[in-house]
Parts: sequence; structure tokens; C-alpha cells
Amino acid sequence: MKKILVTGGAGYIGSHTVVELTALGYTPIIVDNLCNTTIQNIEGIEKIIGKKIKWHNTDCTDKVGMDKVFAEEGTIEGAIHFAAYKAVEESVQNPQKYYDNNMGSLKVLLELMCKNKVKNIIFSSSCTVYGMPDVLPVTEDAPFKKAESPYGETKQICEGMLKEDTVNSVALRYFNPIGSHPSALIGDCSADKPSNLVPIITEVAIGKREKITVFGDDYNTPDGTCIRDYIHVVDLAKSHVLAMNFLINNPGKYAFNVGTGIGISVLDAVKAFEKANNLKINFSIGPRRSGDIEQIYANGSFVKNKLGWEAKETLEQAMKSAWEWEKLKC
Ligand code: UD1
Repeated sequence: MKKILVTGGAGYIGSHTVVELTALGYTPIIVDNLCNTTIQNIEGIEKIIGKKIKWHNTDCTDKVGMDKVFAEEGTIEGAIHFAAYKAVEESVQNPQKYYDNNMGSLKVLLELMCKNKVKNIIFSSSCTVYGMPDVLPVTEDAPFKKAESPYGETKQICEGMLKEDTVNSVALRYFNPIGSHPSALIGDCSADKPSNLVPIITEVAIGKREKITVFGDDYNTPDGTCIRDYIHVVDLAKSHVLAMNFLINNPGKYAFNVGTGIGISVLDAVKAFEKANNLKINFSIGPRRSGDIEQIYANGSFVKNKLGWEAKETLEQAMKSAWEWEKLKC
């Protein structure tokens, strides 16, 4: 069985991907120092897949530690690199932390992949690389705009590092991942104070917050609120497995959008959560959030054509699973 190194495999998207890799016959090897997740996800993975998972408690920027991981594991078919910081606001306050970790871990990984002749890497990128696109839905050849945050900048720079390297790579540009595995055994265990829409909605639902503030209703959109492309994390996880299959058979360098292609407004998202879970969410309209773009959603033709991937889960399923996770999480 082919071994796949999954850095950040105990995190939100990483843990879901480990489950899907196992389902399709790969042997995932997790490398995660739990700096922004918990052991609950490792235990949750093991419950879902019904067996133990190999896990190295190693910092991906630690070259000596990573060297040992490669030495111990022997032949590795490819790597999926999730390990990175992701809190946009924190990245503005402490950019160096983001540059050191997000670029530092990729640098170490690429050096060791080269040394150990591991040829394939899937990279966790983000639609944030596009900024506010001139054409919607956005296609992969849209130009990168100036990054809105150091976090976004690290994604742009890392994609550049992959282009410069000799390795075969797929950058998966995630739109807005939401929801959790239907078992509610794995999910987002990060210590970051939620700043994304759906985790804030679930905190209102459970009573941790009194209400949600909708950031602006004067955008040039049908209901005046911003539009995003919310993708179920299980669908997103599956795209990584297909990307790895594809890369093994089609060496080269690629970038794919991973979204549903459907634009959903903030108010639509709140309503979808209410309807899916039969709950009322208290909200008020506030000022715009600085750095927000008006709208973005994916053109998914390229990824469908090359990987045969498209989103299958509904927004309702995503909102239900987000609520289940909020009730059961760490
Ligand atoms: C944000 C990041 C993006 C990152 C992504 C990861 C910014 C500017 N962008 O994207 O770089 O890749 O998360 O998932 O932070 N909203 C409210 N009230 C809230 C929270 C959010 O109205 O309390 C609105 C936002 O204005 C936005 C939408 O909900 O229109 C989605 O927000 P969010 O979940 O933070 O994602 P993005 O801004 O798309």
C-alpha cells in the first residue's frame, strides 16, 4: 500500500483527508506536532477507519526531526502538506510567525523530498491568492492580486516555491471549507478564536455568542451581503486523494480550484443553517470588515475535467454537520 505523508494530518482538513486516503487504499502517515489541534482528531480518525494510524509528533520546520521521519518511513509515494498557520488576523499582527512557519515547513519538506526522491506533493492553497477577481466565476489562470494579509501572501509565495522546485505538484485552491465528517468524530480543533462565518454561526447557536454581526449589507450583490463558495470539508478531502492519483499518473505542475461553483451570500448562509437545523440565529448588520472582497466563487470546469472531481454534498448537509460538531467537539 502506498504511503502518503500528511503534514498537519491531525488538523481540520488534514484529518478528513486521512480518512479519505485510507478509504481509497493509501497508507497515510501523519506528521503533526498538535500545535493548533488536539489528539481528539487522531482518536477520531482511528474510530472512523477502525484501526491505528501512524503518527509522528514532529514540527515540520524541524529539519532534523523531519529527516528522521523520512528515514523511518522508507519509500513514500507523495506528501500532502497541510501544516500551516491559518488565522488571518493573527497574521497581520505577527507576520513573521506566518512567514517562518508556512514557508519554513514547505522548504524543509521540499528539501527532504528531494533527498529521499519523493516526487509528488499536494499543497493546501486558498482562493485568497486571487484577491477580488475581475471575472467570476474565477478560473485558475486568473492573476494573483496583491495579498490582503500575510497569511494570503504565504499561500502565494508557497505556490511560487512549488513552481521553482523540480517536484511534481498540485496546489489545491480551497474556497470556504465548512462542516465536518458525518460521524462528528473529527473537525476543527484549532485554538484560533473563530473568525470564519460558519463557526461563528454555530457559536451563536450554542450560546457562546449572543449574535452574529453581518459585515456589511451595502455590497453590489442581490441582498447586499458578500458572496462566497462554501465547500463541505468531506468533498474537499476527497479532492486531495484524486489529486494524488492524478499526479502519480500525470507528472507535472498544476493548480485547481476546489469549490462548488455556487455563490452564497452571508444572509443565505445564515438562513441555510437555520433551516437545516431548525434553529433561529440572532444577527445584526454591522459595518464592512476591512480586507473583505465582495464576491468570489469557483469555476470548477478544470478540476472536473482533470480530476473528475466535483462537490457532491449539499449546503444543508454541511450546515447540519457543522452543528453536530459544535455540540460534540473538544
Ligand atoms: C477568510 C480569509 C481567507 C481564508 C479563509 C479561510 C479574510 C479576509 N479572508 O475568507 O484568507 O483563506 O477565511 O476559510 O479573513 N462574515 C460575517 N460576519 C462574521 C464572519 C464572517 O458577516 O462574523 C462574512 C464575511 O464578511 C464574508 C463571509 O462571512 O463575507 C465569509 O467570511 P469568512 O468565513 O471569514 O471567510 P472569507 O472572508 O471568505
